[in-house]
Amino acid sequence: MQETLKTVTKTNTDWEAIRSQFPILKHEVNGHKLVYLDNGASSQMPQRVIDRINDYHSNEHANVHRGIHTLSQKATDAFELARKRMRKFINAQYEEEIIYTTGTTDSINLVAQSYGRKHFNEGDEILISAMEHHANIVPWQMIAEQTGAVLKVIPMDNNGELLLNEFHRLLSSKTKMVAVVHVSNTLGTINPVQEIIESAHAYDVPVLIDGAQAVPHMKVDVQALDADFYAFSAHKMCGPTGFGILYGKRKLLNEMPPYRGGGDMIDKVTFEKTTWNDIPHKFEAGTPPISAGVGFAETIAFLNEIGMDNIAAREQELLKYATEKLSMIDGLQIVGTAKSKASVISFLLKDIHPTDVGTILDQKSIAVRTGHHCTQPIMDSFGIPGTARASISFYNSKDDIDRLVDGIKYVQEFF
Ligand code: ALA
Repeated sequence: MQETLKTVTKTNTDWEAIRSQFPILKHEVNGHKLVYLDNGASSQMPQRVIDRINDYHSNEHANVHRGIHTLSQKATDAFELARKRMRKFINAQYEEEIIYTTGTTDSINLVAQSYGRKHFNEGDEILISAMEHHANIVPWQMIAEQTGAVLKVIPMDNNGELLLNEFHRLLSSKTKMVAVVHVSNTLGTINPVQEIIESAHAYDVPVLIDGAQAVPHMKVDVQALDADFYAFSAHKMCGPTGFGILYGKRKLLNEMPPYRGGGDMIDKVTFEKTTWNDIPHKFEAGTPPISAGVGFAETIAFLNEIGMDNIAAREQELLKYATEKLSMIDGLQIVGTAKSKASVISFLLKDIHPTDVGTILDQKSIAVRTGHHCTQPIMDSFGIPGTARASISFYNSKDDIDRLVDGIKYVQEFF
């Protein structure tokens, strides 16, 4: 078993020691040591999470919630540990408020379909923002089409900050849901979600927060925010793919119909009528991604040992360093210059297409994402086809940023 952070570091912020726990970061790609700056798309897993998943497969695997045999109970306990740890991690009041999903997209679709089918009617309004990921646009468009509800959009300015006066103007008795991203995956903007939630609640409107890019990078307290729904994914926070969380207030979840039907989500099934299991199981039909859940429980322990406040501070330090260095490059324009940002830098290089930027950087083993980042409306509003995006994690280093800067200069020389 891999040593834990507590045993390999004097303090929990020995970033070199923390970085050394990520095996993939030791790899060479295209003849150079990997510089991984695509954490917004998916982050890497530390060895102990990989080991935990392997160990589960080797020694504990069985289906969960079904068997009375010892192995099944062991698997259930290991799987349910993620729920217990996650409740504390985001400070939910009750364990059953933590719904397992396959990721942020699944979580948002669940709320759109389950809450929306019950509550939305012709002419009702769903309020989203101009900087939403497609995952927080399309599910609402689909339920709007099914129910006759209408989508309204909170605009933003050129820095990538939401126009809150416009938000207040759009909020009305017709609004039935506000769904807003906490941290923009493309612009890095940290939105004032607490203020947004408070304003929506003044109209009795529930709020869903897309926290896919927030929970990995800062301490999130769903009770302090008073969020009604909060969605995020494991794989963007050093956990496995195929696993995510929907937090929802117990009262709302209890009143919502199931989203998907099948095993585990039922109480009693007859051909005439079926009744539902209690939350969280009402929303968890079928065999779940068990090993991913088991691995995610280990991820939460890992992040807790470092401390989310330490992670946020480290990433802010790297963001500041990277912003200063990139700003010095002639012909480089940063897209997304909000005052409050997480560690995401989208940029354009004069006269060079973002895809070419990404391709040449890859030759130097620098992994960035290019394109529209699943936010086509943001690209339309800036009138650009896409950006190159460096998204930084706490396990990156200043050396990684220096390599990015050298790589960008190489791209400019190349063209
Ligand atoms: N939403 C992910 C990203 O920003 C996939 O890259």
